[in-house]
Amino acid sequence: MENLLSGLSFYAPTRILFGPGKLNSVGEEAAQLGKKAMLVTGKSAALKFGYTDRVVSLLKQNGVDTVIFDEVGPNPTVKTVNLGGELARREGCDLVIGLGGGSAIDAAKYIAILATNAVDCWTIVDPGIDLERQPAPVIAITMTAGTGSEVSQFAVLSNPDLKRKDGTGKPYLYAKLAIVDPELTLSLPAYETAYSGVDALAQAIEPFTSVFSNPVSDMFAEAAIKLVANNLRTAVHNPGNLQARTAMHMANVLAGFSLTLVDTTIAHVMSEAVGAVTDLPHGLCVALSLPAVMEYNCVANLDKFARVAELMGTATSGLSKREAAMKVPQALRDLYQDIGLPQGFGALGVRDIGRIVELASRPGLDASNPRQLSSKTIELLVRASVDASMSYWAIGGR
Ligand SMILES: [Fe+2]
Repeated sequence: MENLLSGLSFYAPTRILFGPGKLNSVGEEAAQLGKKAMLVTGKSAALKFGYTDRVVSLLKQNGVDTVIFDEVGPNPTVKTVNLGGELARREGCDLVIGLGGGSAIDAAKYIAILATNAVDCWTIVDPGIDLERQPAPVIAITMTAGTGSEVSQFAVLSNPDLKRKDGTGKPYLYAKLAIVDPELTLSLPAYETAYSGVDALAQAIEPFTSVFSNPVSDMFAEAAIKLVANNLRTAVHNPGNLQARTAMHMANVLAGFSLTLVDTTIAHVMSEAVGAVTDLPHGLCVALSLPAVMEYNCVANLDKFARVAELMGTATSGLSKREAAMKVPQALRDLYQDIGLPQGFGALGVRDIGRIVELASRPGLDASNPRQLSSKTIELLVRASVDASMSYWAIGGR
């Protein structure tokens, strides 16, 4: 409980509409927030499965006009977001709706700021300017069970010119409303389901094992870890199972809350570095960074990591706490094998280790990690995550 000595601040103002069929409410909800919406989405899933048209039609039925901005890729770039922001200002949009995974929702959050502030979006991240006007309200409609962006105060941007991927967390980055409808994930392909589900898992395990963890964040994190462990395999292999999809969507929201309370650790830092260098999807970068980080971190808090092993369904009876804690990396590898994820970045052609280490080693990014880090240990962790063995221990880490 020592973390409570410095107090606790829990601010999670996003209203959540959770459950199958909740997308149908988007028109009525939007009509209470604005007259002209910008719908921020990508060209793939939302369009392919007809959700873009469905949202436009539901808004129209409730007297809300829509401007579609469907340029968002796997990692929203500064250029794309600035274009969306200019369009929102030119069209006079007073509401922004993000439809898709974390990329579309993060882009929507920044575009909502640009709708009322004529600035370059990167200046919001670095150096972190003060806003002159409040952003337009955001409705976040999540089509993946992973990033938790719909309930968190975080949003990430890619800056390919600087080869950086960075975000910020501010109260004004909370969505006004999150529509979390598991029916939207029924059409999510197995691979995306797998890596976005592991992102949710990491967003629970990392805050749970962070030096800043507290009883409130732990409550959300424990529930999320258990839900992912019990449902992700089914959601991947039986995509039409609404029960498993609903459980994964709840895990996503709960992990989003744990992330809102306590930041992630070095696995997310490494994953953003890989994402900046390769443009691979966020969830995949997180998934492949996590096992080596667990090997490195587990000795720093045996109680917490032993509990993670238990929550993940590992048989821990008769084991010492140390033995149980050290089971976590293997539990992740077994999960990846079962859900069809690769066992290292090397299989995906990732080679630029130097730049990844440089980005992940910037000062201040490791403050929440349960075990102290140096550039040398980060380099070993990156190497272990690239190597197919994915073992920090196997390449000589202690
Ligand atoms: Fe994440």
